[in-house]
Amino acid sequence: MNNRRTLLKRILAAVAALLLPGRLSASDTLAPTPFLTAGPFYPRDPSGLPFLPARTTLPELLTNDLTRTRPEGRAEGRHILISGRVMDVVGRPLAGAVVEIWSVNARNIYLVEDGGASDPGFAGFGVTATDAEGRYSFRTIRPGGYDCYFGLIRRTAHIHVLVKVAGAEAFTTEMWFADEPRNSIDCFFRRVTDPGLQARMAVILNRSGGFDQA
Ligand SMILES: [Fe+2]
Repeated sequence: MNNRRTLLKRILAAVAALLLPGRLSASDTLAPTPFLTAGPFYPRDPSGLPFLPARTTLPELLTNDLTRTRPEGRAEGRHILISGRVMDVVGRPLAGAVVEIWSVNARNIYLVEDGGASDPGFAGFGVTATDAEGRYSFRTIRPGGYDCYFGLIRRTAHIHVLVKVAGAEAFTTEMWFADEPRNSIDCFFRRVTDPGLQARMAVILNRSGGFDQA
């Protein structure tokens, strides 16, 4: 039981400050980033939706740049740069954490749905590791929303995030976009009831260096 409790603490610590800008002092305690299911579109779990078989394996190139799959391949859509930090609950950076992201492409289709056929230039999945300050970054696209199960699941634009820290189970969550007017109808955004956490998980894009960045 103690081992399980220790493991749980480590999991919470691993994602405590995901997407949180800045650094807090050791006397502060951060609200852990909420856990949200990975869902049926994770590329490494080719189970797919119950009635929609997966059609892909991982991209050939596993990098933090999802906007290219080959030297000549470029993703459709609005390219953005997202970055954040993985820290423990007292604001200490976690170096070497593996961060993965995946989202729909510019046509609102996941890699597992069509194997990338609708946009061969978009990797659909990316992976990186945090640096000494716990920082990570990805170049990707701003995805759109989608509905599943005949409208029972309604999703606004979001990016799935998975964090792995040595010795702990993988932790999954998501990020949204603050300027998306329909976040309040998103089935999973609505589960984050703390306004402070909602604000932390809905990123604000700023135009900088030729990219929209968050
Ligand atoms: Fe999704």
